[in-house]
Amino acid sequence: MNCCVVGLQWGDEGKGKVVDILAEKAEIVVRYGGGANAGHTVIIGDQRFALHLMPSGAVRPGTVCVIANGVVVDPEVLLTEIDGLAEKGISMDGRLLISENAHMVLDYHKQEDQLREAALGRQKIGTTARGIGPCYADKIGRSYALRMADLRDPAALREKLERIVAYKNKLFGALYDAAPMDAGRLFDTCRRWSDRLGGHIVNTTEYLYAALDNRKNILFEGAQGALLDLDHGTFPYVTSSNCSALGLGSGCGVPSKWVDTFLGIVKAYATRVGAGPFPTEQDNATGDWIRQRGHEFGTTTGRPRRCGWFDAVAVAYTARLGGVDQIGMMHLDTLAGRDELKICRAYRLDGRETSFFPCDGEQLGRVECIYETVPGWSEDLSQVRRYADLPETVRHYLATVQRYVGVPITMVGVGPKRDQIIYRD
Ligand code: GDP
Ligand code: IMO
Ligand code: MG
Repeated sequence: MNCCVVGLQWGDEGKGKVVDILAEKAEIVVRYGGGANAGHTVIIGDQRFALHLMPSGAVRPGTVCVIANGVVVDPEVLLTEIDGLAEKGISMDGRLLISENAHMVLDYHKQEDQLREAALGRQKIGTTARGIGPCYADKIGRSYALRMADLRDPAALREKLERIVAYKNKLFGALYDAAPMDAGRLFDTCRRWSDRLGGHIVNTTEYLYAALDNRKNILFEGAQGALLDLDHGTFPYVTSSNCSALGLGSGCGVPSKWVDTFLGIVKAYATRVGAGPFPTEQDNATGDWIRQRGHEFGTTTGRPRRCGWFDAVAVAYTARLGGVDQIGMMHLDTLAGRDELKICRAYRLDGRETSFFPCDGEQLGRVECIYETVPGWSEDLSQVRRYADLPETVRHYLATVQRYVGVPITMVGVGPKRDQIIYRD
């Protein structure tokens, strides 16, 4: 069985935990998009892993980890992760494959991300400052891009770096009055990356096709959430890749027809980091309560996450967009302790009720949420392991979400640990 795990909200739905659980039965785990903007948390016993570029399957020593062509790779972050895993006794030797076609994030991408955001002031996107947008922009622009394959040919790399750095220095100097960068220093850094990562750089598409032919179990790990998709999310408050399930084919060369199951992950409520419209946001005591109970602070940047009620209009849209077969809902345990909970079942826009999600920022900023109020629960769910043992109020909450979203909820998270998951037949 091949399975693709994708976030259906604004990221941080708990994909890392679910991928780790499913990786028990996978031979290969593939990241196909995004970069070090992602932060995927896996908790095993007392150990906590926060992975940014490495597929979450890395913590299972038997799995092969693939970083495919659609990912923008910051080699510095990757090396830190490899070293961090090694310190915890987990080696990536012989089981990490990085696509030669994956684009490389360099210092100037991070610098541009920060300078541009600072210059935008109140109009800023609220990026993770990891250089993601500028790196994808160079990829689309082609002439100033560097890929992992470029680490293989030092002479050509030096030439390219000199040309690119001369261009960026002019640009950043004119736009931001930035101090010039030194191509030689960047080249030395690249040589160090090449020494350590060179042996991992391959044609991952060829590897994946052979794996499919040999009927290996492959798990595809989405980053971010579909509402941050460049084309189908809440533009311009999105990331710079197709992070919905639609990015799978371009991101790793495997068409969705070879994937048996698309598993969409949601939280029992909604969160968002960074700017942009968020119809069900509770910028009040309720939002604070969710943030405290759910420890809703960014895995990558530590920023407090904005919190709100579950938005079934948004998730019905992203489930459709991703061709999602099943949904895993995390953080049910977090919602314990309220008399009532709300689920947004429709929007009112220009006096008309609609259940279709308008991703246009201006329209989304104006919608009024129509909520269904359901009874809450006070029981601690963290020890529950069987669906039948969930309180009736919890099952009613799940059934209500499922009715509005239109996709079965087959997995329920009741805590951050590996075993805190409930499967529904
Ligand atoms: P990802 O980006 O989708 O992998 O999610 P993150 O790791 O950024 O954020 C999810 C957070 O929720 C992490 O701190 C997880 O440990 C935690 N988590 C995941 N599932 C559950 C759950 O069912 N209950 C609780 N309380 N925490 C969870
Ligand atoms: P995971 O994989 C939550 C958000 C940023 C910002 C916008 C653009 O952990 O779910 P970028 O740095 O990508 O240019 O920022 O996207 N963002 C995320 N939010 N989880 C993520 O990843 C995110 N990756 C990017 O906060 O609003
Ligand atoms: Mg995250």
